[in-house]
Amino acid sequence: MRIPYYITTPIYYINDVPHIGHAYTTAAADVMARYRRICGYDVFFLTGVDEYGQKAEKAAQAQGIRPQELADRMVPTFTSLWTMLNISNTGFVRTTGPDHKKVVQYLFEKIRAKGDIYLGQYEGWYCIPCETYFTELQAKDNTCPDCGRALERLKEESYFFKMSSYSGALLRHLEEHKAFVLPDMRYNEVASFVKGGLRDLSISRTTFTWGVPVPGDPRHVIYVWFDALANYLTGIGFQTDMDLFERFWPCDAHLIGKDILRFHAVYWPSFLLSAGLDLPKSVFAHGWWTQEGQKMSKSLGNVVDPVGVVREYGADEFRFFMFREVPFGLDGDFSREGIKARINGDLANDFGNLVSRSANMIGKFLAGRLDSPKETGGTDAHLVGSIETLVSEYEKEMAIFSYYKALGAVFEITALLNKYIDSEAPWKLAKENPARVPTVLYNVWNGVRIATVLLYPFMPAKTQEVWKALGMGSRIDKVTFDKEKGFYLPGEVGVIGKVAPIFPRLE
Ligand code: MSP
Repeated sequence: MRIPYYITTPIYYINDVPHIGHAYTTAAADVMARYRRICGYDVFFLTGVDEYGQKAEKAAQAQGIRPQELADRMVPTFTSLWTMLNISNTGFVRTTGPDHKKVVQYLFEKIRAKGDIYLGQYEGWYCIPCETYFTELQAKDNTCPDCGRALERLKEESYFFKMSSYSGALLRHLEEHKAFVLPDMRYNEVASFVKGGLRDLSISRTTFTWGVPVPGDPRHVIYVWFDALANYLTGIGFQTDMDLFERFWPCDAHLIGKDILRFHAVYWPSFLLSAGLDLPKSVFAHGWWTQEGQKMSKSLGNVVDPVGVVREYGADEFRFFMFREVPFGLDGDFSREGIKARINGDLANDFGNLVSRSANMIGKFLAGRLDSPKETGGTDAHLVGSIETLVSEYEKEMAIFSYYKALGAVFEITALLNKYIDSEAPWKLAKENPARVPTVLYNVWNGVRIATVLLYPFMPAKTQEVWKALGMGSRIDKVTFDKEKGFYLPGEVGVIGKVAPIFPRLE
């Protein structure tokens, strides 16, 4: 019986086209989903779009269309980008779907029945783009502490959620589950926020209508974050397919950006505690991208368009760059020079060159036919042992979303292999000790094959090309990590020979 693994991305607002931030979280989730699949897990990978809220309503008004129309137009900009980026999601939630509305209202009712919802008056400083109220203290100079835009003073009747009742339970949960929020610095942020005590949360609005109506009081629509967070339940069949839901809930990992940590690590678990549902196992918050050293913003016109980047550099190259360039969790800078340097350095020179070099030598010295290694010497054993250690390191790092270190381990493997080729010099052995050539080339080939499997979650399409060049007839997305990382008998390996460069150098 395969172990279930459930991973999610945030659902994205449809008031604008996708940017690098959306591509980043979604690609990160895809890397983990693919990795877990080859490790034998039964993976459910959910993404989607967040269609309701004042922001969407305003964006639609500005274009003179209904918000539903805007959403319908925008959804394909997301789904086509996911196709371009080789995203292997299992589910896709649209919050305007009929199932979702049922789930949101059910959750609201459940929490109300618990006695955790009351009607009150809300007055405060509201940031429309961020859909968030701020306190006097936070609303310094009447600008949003998150995005810096002007705040509006709003007063409205509102339903409140008694979040203040959940500080204690949440703190206890945090203490008992150190992996509940990752990385550590984000855990500390959340813990100190909760320690400061939680205030009740306004969870309905009367100033606009584009949202899920409060059951029994349609003057109110449910706060867009309450609605949006519930997508994680909708996506796996809560209330519609309870078998599926029971299989995948609680979620293994909600991947998000650092700006929406509080919603996921404080509000969401409080709602779930109130509704009597299990809490997700972890929330991982990544950092933000700047562009050529500058904060990205529409007004500066420097938002990185992922479609353009994919067209220019390739989907896998872009995916690889995002995780090789910056430790996942920290902020990073996107630049064309940066992505080019990664392509030319890591992909063309190191990995790509290693692949062609190995295939060419197998073609030239063994007529394209691999053989099982015969006698094994000290340098061979050292190579095999070091690769084994690096594979374990990779596994350890992948388990905690440390993609940067995991990729570091892969590139240590490629460096070791390049060194081994140089010192064993198969071209010399071919003249001086031909009996050793099959052993050396087998070891090289097997090392490259292992590195290819380790790179697969990051570059699913390019590694398939490499796989083929290595004589493997199977599909790389069907590999079994356990078997493939070990010693492999070359029974099913096809003829190997010269290959065209898989990662051509960019000028
Ligand atoms: N709709 C909410 C999420 C609801 S989840 C229940 C939302 N949507 S969003 O369209 O604004 O997308 C947010 C995601 O994009 C966040 O994870 C955010 O961190 C990410 N990014 C937005 N700009 C970013 C960068 N410049 N860099 C990296 N990620 C960034 O919030």
